[in-house]
Amino acid sequence: MNSPSIRLGFLGFGEAAARLAVDFHKAGITGIVAYSRSGAKAKPGDALYEKAQSTGVTLVKTSAALAKKTDIIIALTPGKAAVPALRRILKHLRKDHLYIDASSNSAKAMEQAAALAGDAVRFVDASVMGPVDIQGIKVPFVASGPHAAEFRDRMTPLGMVINVVGKGPGDASAMKLIRSVLMKGLAMLLLDTMEAAQRRNILDAVIEDSSVTFNDIPFQKIIKRYVGGTAVHCERRVHEMKECLELLHDMGSTDRSTKATISMLREMVKMGMPQKFTSEPDSIHPVIDALIAARDAAR
Ligand SMILES: NC(=O)c1ccc[n+]([C@@H]2O[C@H](COP(=O)([O-])OP(=O)(O)OC[C@H]3O[C@@H](n4cnc5c(N)ncnc54)[C@H](OP(=O)(O)O)[C@@H]3O)[C@@H](O)[C@H]2O)c1
Repeated sequence: MNSPSIRLGFLGFGEAAARLAVDFHKAGITGIVAYSRSGAKAKPGDALYEKAQSTGVTLVKTSAALAKKTDIIIALTPGKAAVPALRRILKHLRKDHLYIDASSNSAKAMEQAAALAGDAVRFVDASVMGPVDIQGIKVPFVASGPHAAEFRDRMTPLGMVINVVGKGPGDASAMKLIRSVLMKGLAMLLLDTMEAAQRRNILDAVIEDSSVTFNDIPFQKIIKRYVGGTAVHCERRVHEMKECLELLHDMGSTDRSTKATISMLREMVKMGMPQKFTSEPDSIHPVIDALIAARDAAR
C-alpha cells in the first residue's frame, strides 16, 4: 500500500537512492518504486533485488511503470545520464508530477533539462551537498526553480533538509559548483602554504598560528574582512606578496597560488579599488559589484 500523501519513486537506484530509500522507509513511506537499467533485469537472489526488497522498494521494469506508480520522482543517475533519462521518461510523466533531478550536473545541463521538461512536468534542479551514505535523509539538498519550494514543503516533513536558492533551474547546480571553487581552492592554498612551512621546518608552528587566527572568527566575518580588506589594501599587499614569492623561490617551494594572488591584487589596483574603498565597507556587496563592473567594462 502506498502512503496516502506521497507516491515516491527513484530514477536510478545506486548508492544514493538506495540509502535515501532506507530512511524514507523508516519515515513510514511505503510503496516506493525505482527504475534503473540493471534494476529492471534484477531477479530474486540478485544483490540489487535483495537490497531493494530489504528497503521496501519495488524495482520496476520500465520508466513508464515508474511514472505510473509515482507522484514524486527523485532522479539520481550519473550526471551524463540525467538528460537522456529525462528524455526517455518524459512522455510518461504527468503535469502534476514533481520531478527532482538530483544528479550532479553542470548548471547548463540543468537548464537544458528544465527546457526539455517545459510545462510537461514540475521540474526541480537539486544538488546533493554531502555524502548520502553517511548522512542519509539528512544530507543537505539545495533546490532551485519554480517548483523547488513545493519539493521543500512536501519532503521536509519526512526529514529531508532542503534549502531553496536562486531563481531558476541551474542555480542549485551552480551553487554546488561555486562552492567547489571555494573548497577546492582553499585546499590548494593550504597545500601550498603547508609545503612552504614544511620546507622551512615550521609546519606545526604555522598550523598553530593560522588556527589561532581563524578558530574564533565566524566565517561570515572572515569573508567580510578578507574581501573588504583586500579592496582597501591591495596596493600594499602586492609588495608584501612579492617578498613571499622571493622566499618561496629561495626554498624551491611551489609559487602557483602566490602568483595568482599577486595577479589578482594587481588587477584590483588597476580597477582603482583603493580609491573606491578607503575603509573596509560594511558589506562585501559593493566590492563584488565594483569588481564585476570593472571586469565587464574591460571585456
Ligand atoms: N552517493 C552520494 O553520496 C552522492 C552525493 C552527492 C551527489 N551524488 C550524485 O547523485 C547521483 C547518483 O549517485 P550514486 O552514488 O547513487 O551513483 P551510482 O551508485 O553510480 O548510481 C547511479 C544509478 O543510476 C542508474 N542509471 C544510470 N544511467 C541510467 C539511465 N539512463 N536511466 C536510469 N537509470 C540510470 C544506475 O543503474 P544502471 O546503470 O543499471 O541503469 C544506478 O542505479 C550522481 O549524479 C552523483 O554525482 C551522489
